Amino acid sequence: MISVNFVCLGNICRSPMAELIFKDIVNDEGRAPFFVIDSSGTSDYEIGNPIYPPAKKILEQHGIYGEHTARQLTLKDIKNNDYVLVMDSENLVDVLRLTGGRYGDKIFKLCSFTDNPRDIADPWYTHDFRQAYKDIKDGCKAFFAYLKRERPGAIGFAGQN
Ligand code: 4NP
Repeated sequence: MISVNFVCLGNICRSPMAELIFKDIVNDEGRAPFFVIDSSGTSDYEIGNPIYPPAKKILEQHGIYGEHTARQLTLKDIKNNDYVLVMDSENLVDVLRLTGGRYGDKIFKLCSFTDNPRDIADPWYTHDFRQAYKDIKDGCKAFFAYLKRERPGAIGFAGQN
């Protein structure tokens, strides 16, 4: 079993996109029973709000449907999850500030699992939801490949080729 919390600033654009994209990958791979997947924001700006409509739209254009209500990341989330995957360097600083520098072994930038460990630009400011979708998809695929390689037993692949 693997638990993941995707984290961005507002929890209405990038991290709910990552949550739903990763759930879609996990479902396609038949691995849903092995995962607990959620998302949250470092700020309290959007608490209680749904996925931002342009983010929802780009997901639906890729056949991904789902809901999320924005909430703020807590220290308990970090303690209770195996992986806390942030979208950019600012999120990373904010999360490490919350933990006082602890739990560094489970906090990663999502794209650090790719061959190009970049930040995922915030579409709230760039308005480029297409680019955000591409980068998040790339990060989620690379993270799943990492788990398959490094933690096969935890996601039900033990003993399989
Ligand atoms: P997100 O984008 O961190 O990808 O959810 C943002 C959404 C809202 C705000 C900032 C970023 N805001 O300032 O309300």
